[in-house]
Amino acid sequence: MSSKTTVITPDQLAAQFAFCDQIRGFWYEQNITPTAYVETYGCQQNEADSEKLRGYLTQAGYAIVREAEGADVVILNTCAIREHAEQRVFGNLGALTHTKRRHSRQKIFLCGCMAGETKVSDRVYKSFPYVDGVFSTHHLWQFPEILWNVLTRKKRQFYIEDEPGSIAEGIPQVRDSRLKAWVSIMYGCNNFCTYCIVPYVRGRERSRKMADILAECRSLVENGCKEITLLGQNVNSYGKDLDENVDFSDLLAQIASIEGDFLIRFMTSHPRDASKKLFDTMAKHPKIAKQLHLPFQSGSSRVLKAMNRHYDRETYLEKVRYAKSVMPDLVLTSDVIVGFPGETEEEFEETISLIEAVHYDALFTFIFSPRVGTPAARMEDPTPKEEKNRRFDRLCAVQNQISERIHEGYIGKVFRCLVDGTDKDLLTARTEGGRLVRFEGDPGLIGSFQNIRITGATTWSLTGTLEN
Ligand code: SAH
Ligand code: SF4
Ligand code: F3S
Repeated sequence: MSSKTTVITPDQLAAQFAFCDQIRGFWYEQNITPTAYVETYGCQQNEADSEKLRGYLTQAGYAIVREAEGADVVILNTCAIREHAEQRVFGNLGALTHTKRRHSRQKIFLCGCMAGETKVSDRVYKSFPYVDGVFSTHHLWQFPEILWNVLTRKKRQFYIEDEPGSIAEGIPQVRDSRLKAWVSIMYGCNNFCTYCIVPYVRGRERSRKMADILAECRSLVENGCKEITLLGQNVNSYGKDLDENVDFSDLLAQIASIEGDFLIRFMTSHPRDASKKLFDTMAKHPKIAKQLHLPFQSGSSRVLKAMNRHYDRETYLEKVRYAKSVMPDLVLTSDVIVGFPGETEEEFEETISLIEAVHYDALFTFIFSPRVGTPAARMEDPTPKEEKNRRFDRLCAVQNQISERIHEGYIGKVFRCLVDGTDKDLLTARTEGGRLVRFEGDPGLIGSFQNIRITGATTWSLTGTLEN
């Protein structure tokens, strides 16, 4: 493990549990059952972190509720990836003045990736005096202590010191779903793509020990979990910082050997590190979903270099070709940025041609958003906003046509799907590739795998009928 990674010891965690007990006693003496609301922005890493916050809160005696109004604790677990994400948080933070006025006991916290930015913590400190606590992702494991301090001292709490990062095993979790689980296998990122804020707010790459991950997955499967999604900013780097000689493919193979009927997904794969070994491992194990999220960001090798992505157009396409050759039914998705500083019209066209060459099932498309402190924010950016919007619309139109065509090709075929919920009068399910299917059926089927024949398709989803 990296010499800079701090491992939170069982004693340190026990001290946090002691704070939970104290908080429970604090409310018990007042004959109050306190309530808490956690709102999550951003990616699955944040969803997973919110499950830990709810775990701590439950242990401290809080009932988890679904809205901020009237809650004794409100936590905004924030995302810093684009300007728009931050604006939403500040908007919602403003609205909380009113809920707090109506419920004076309410304590408000801001955490997550935005809390790791000095500009944000300064602004909250100065302009949002009713926010009681701010803590960055490095300090999540100390949440009970922060909450206790807020409850018992009159002072606002700021836990925002920057660190390379820590690993804490054993924080309780209240999971959103019994069927599907997020499992973080590593934290942080070392890649420093020039547009990206994540390495600054989540610290250096650090991997959990394989034995800890396997124990968590085993227990999930024993408790009825049918789909495990492994999380990391760059899962292909898993293990590089560990003393054990293991990589991500080894971890996948080990998880796939756990007994039981379940699917394994993972995100995100960095194209530089996605290896033949990874694709062969995926192809070999039926429990690993044939679904790959492989963000390419740009189809232009020059732009990729300026982004510090460490692969070019050709190597990316080469990897996709190999992956498809060993997994003919592979469902491929990706992220792409338009309007990176200095992107020319020709370079944008290279992005379009890459999309047409690869034929992604779905794309997550973004317009470049400058993040303070990142190199790209200081690059010359002569392209006007309207031009970027035009490129964005064109890209979406091209991709929508592709997604529609792929989905139409599903019609008449039968897929094994995990039935995972309801949508109005219909049931919802996901194909192995992660595509959403709606169909008529008995809610008792939720939690089982079923064969579904696809009868209809739109750009975004499918409809079908039970095949049995
Ligand atoms: N670790 C993942 C992605 C994390 S962020 C990876 O490397 O692929 C999710 C997506 O947000 C990125 O893939 C990128 O497409 C987008 N993104 C990140 N920073 C951005 C920025 N400054 N402006 C616009 N989009 C951005
Ligand atoms: Fe950001 Fe790049 Fe790390 Fe992904 S790999 S989190 S885009 S720096
Ligand atoms: Fe956002 Fe942080 Fe995820 S910046 S995308 S919540 S890692």
